[in-house]
Amino acid sequence: MKVTIDNITIEVEPGTTIMQAARQIGPEVAPPAMCYYEPLKASGGKCRGCLVKVTAGSEKDPRPMPKLVPSCITQVQEGMIVENTINEQVLETRKGIVEFLLLNHPLDCPICDQAGECHLQDFSFEHGVSKTRTVEERNTFEQVDLGDHIQLHMNRCILCYRCVYTADQITDGRVHGVMHRGDHAEISTYIEKAIDNDFSGNIIDVCPVGALTDKTYRFKNRVWFTKPVEAHCDCDKCSGNVTLWYRGEEVIRVTGRKNEWGEVKEFICNTCRFDRKKTSDWTIEGPSKVSRASVISANKYGANTIKPAFPIKQAAEQYKKIDDNRDRSFLAPQKQLN
Ligand code: SF4
Ligand code: FES
Repeated sequence: MKVTIDNITIEVEPGTTIMQAARQIGPEVAPPAMCYYEPLKASGGKCRGCLVKVTAGSEKDPRPMPKLVPSCITQVQEGMIVENTINEQVLETRKGIVEFLLLNHPLDCPICDQAGECHLQDFSFEHGVSKTRTVEERNTFEQVDLGDHIQLHMNRCILCYRCVYTADQITDGRVHGVMHRGDHAEISTYIEKAIDNDFSGNIIDVCPVGALTDKTYRFKNRVWFTKPVEAHCDCDKCSGNVTLWYRGEEVIRVTGRKNEWGEVKEFICNTCRFDRKKTSDWTIEGPSKVSRASVISANKYGANTIKPAFPIKQAAEQYKKIDDNRDRSFLAPQKQLN
C-alpha cells in the first residue's frame, strides 16, 4: 500500500500501522512513542504521544479524518496521507500531551536513574513547553520493593502498561497489574507480592520512565558516564546477548540489547542481568552502537531533534513585537541601559 507521511511516500504491507510505516522511512518522521513497544503484542493506544493528522483517509475516500489519530494503532490505507512533524495542530497537541503526562510526574530527573535514557525526558524536550501551569499537588506514593532486585517508584509511572504486557507475555503467572482507575490508578502487586520469576527484570528495560529501577544499579552512576559494551555468555535460560555498562573496569549494570527505537531486541533472564557482574562472566564483542535514544549519542539534542518551522516563525514574530522604547524603570538602576 502506498502511504505518504510528511510528503514522503513509501510502500508498505497491508496491516502496517502509520507508526511502523513512519519508522520505515526513518527517525525524522517517526512519531514519539511512550507506550507502544513493537516486541509487545497489544501495546500502544495509551499515552497519545504519537497522535498524527490524517489529511486523506485513502484513495477511495480522500476525506481527512476529523480527529487526530494514534499512529501506533491506526493501520494505513491505500493512498493515505499523514502529517506528523509538518502539522501545526499535531505539534500543538503534543505540547498538551506532555503537560498531561507531567501532571503527576515528579521533576526529579537530577536524581532519577532513568535520566539520559528516559523517553519522557526526550518527549518533553522535543515537544513540551518549558513552564508549567499547574499549582496542584502531585499524587505521591511510597516506594515499593518488588522482590530483591526491582524497586517501583509509582510517582514516576505514566501508566503505559508496557511492564504489564511484558510480565504477561514473557513470564508465567503475572502477579502485578494496574489497580484502580482514573487518577487512582497505580501499578501494584496488590499485596506487594514479590515478582520473582526468571524474566522479571525485563520490566525494568521496557519502562519508558524511571518508575521501575534495578536495585543493583540504583544511584551508582549517571548513564552518560558509563560505557556500553556488547557481550554474550552461554546461558541455558536466555540468548545470553546483553549490553554491559562499565564504570571504569567495573560492570555496574547489565541490560538487554536495544534497537534504535529503544526497544529490547531479546529479553534476558535475571541471572544474566543481576548475577553476572564480572567481565570474566562474559565474552566481549565490542563497544555498543549507541542508539539515537541514548544521551550518550553525540549531538543527541542537535542532529536528531527536528525543530519544526512554525515555532521558529512564531518566535521571530514575537521578537519583532518587542518594543525597544518600553518602560524600563522597573530595572535596578545599575541595570538601566538608558
Ligand atoms: S511502571 Fe513503567 S512500564 Fe509499568 S506502566 Fe508505569 S511507566 Fe509503564
Ligand atoms: S505510542 Fe501511540 S498512544 Fe502511546
